[in-house]
Amino acid sequence: MPRFVVTPWEVKGKVDYDKLIQRFGTQPIDGKLLKRIEKHAKQLHVFLRRGIFFSHRDLNWILDMYENGKKFYLYTGRGPSGHTHLGHLIPWVFTKHLQDVFGAELYFQLTDDEKFLFKRELALQDAIGFTYDNALDVIACGFDPKKTFIFSDLEYAKTLYKMAIQIAKHITFSTARAVFGFTSQSNIGIIFFPAIQAAPCFFPSMLKGENIPCLIPAAIDQDPYWRPSRDVAPKLGFFKPAQIHCKFIPGLGKGGKMSASQPETCIFTTDLPELAAKKIMNAFTGGMGTVREQREKGGNPNICSVYQYFYFLFEDDDEKLRKIYDECKGGERICGDCKEALAKRVKKFLTKHQEKRERAKNIIQKFMLRD
Ligand code: TRP
Repeated sequence: MPRFVVTPWEVKGKVDYDKLIQRFGTQPIDGKLLKRIEKHAKQLHVFLRRGIFFSHRDLNWILDMYENGKKFYLYTGRGPSGHTHLGHLIPWVFTKHLQDVFGAELYFQLTDDEKFLFKRELALQDAIGFTYDNALDVIACGFDPKKTFIFSDLEYAKTLYKMAIQIAKHITFSTARAVFGFTSQSNIGIIFFPAIQAAPCFFPSMLKGENIPCLIPAAIDQDPYWRPSRDVAPKLGFFKPAQIHCKFIPGLGKGGKMSASQPETCIFTTDLPELAAKKIMNAFTGGMGTVREQREKGGNPNICSVYQYFYFLFEDDDEKLRKIYDECKGGERICGDCKEALAKRVKKFLTKHQEKRERAKNIIQKFMLRD
């Protein structure tokens, strides 16, 4: 039995990211590549400095092309099965950074069809509703409306389908079964779906009548989708899509990634700031049983979910983060205060994000791509 599982539908156990690179056959982002990115970005993004984006395919090639004057576009997406949570924002925040640094267009896919097909209890109308709800979170990340194209699979089907069937023709059931683990019980919609998620790797090239490199920033669990996409690319005369992969933000409980199925350990972007603060005050930490014991022995930030939140999203300053770590280990920092400090930042973040979400309602039409 593997000790952890990572598929597009399931993340289980404690993920060993080095092992995952081997298992998936991707490349680690090494010091040399970081230097190369830094040249363009002026300063390395905190997600790269901290190894939150840690793996890639063909990123050197994307930079070669870019340095030779060939721009790439970005492609990422979201399966709208519920409200957005903080974990979802990580690739989007990074995608926005890449858009700024490289002046890249972004194609953002909302796979309402996927969620409808995979979630037995999800009604079609609800999937469509979450498409719009989630698009507000995407827009709130600050993407450039002139360079950002958000589309729902159900709405943009006419264009997508033309690309998807060309892809589907080159993928056998046996390949799809090997990559995605489909069985004879799988409904036939989900067997076709990988061709729909592959379509944005190429359709911008199809529409523009010119081959454009594509870079996909996404969590590593999406990697299986890009394997058949990369195999099919040369057969259709397109470039293989490149990827840059991130890790999962943990939930507020003990271990495991943040997941909407455990709402008490998950912060949604739509949570009232007070509710989010309450969830944080109940979070699992690396603290000792009593304050006294903690003062004597120190806490363990390595297993602490609160520390992870500073690490991933709420303390950009490396020096200050180090201080939090050291103070925790040294017993100077007590969990109650630490949770309060985090709660304060999260509340501030949510209040701002929710304002941006409200404003997004007025400009959403500028972003939506329709055929
Ligand atoms: N399958 C993804 C999900 O369930 C959504 C998605 C579609 C996506 N295209 C993507 C994610 C491209 C990352 C990159 O959330």
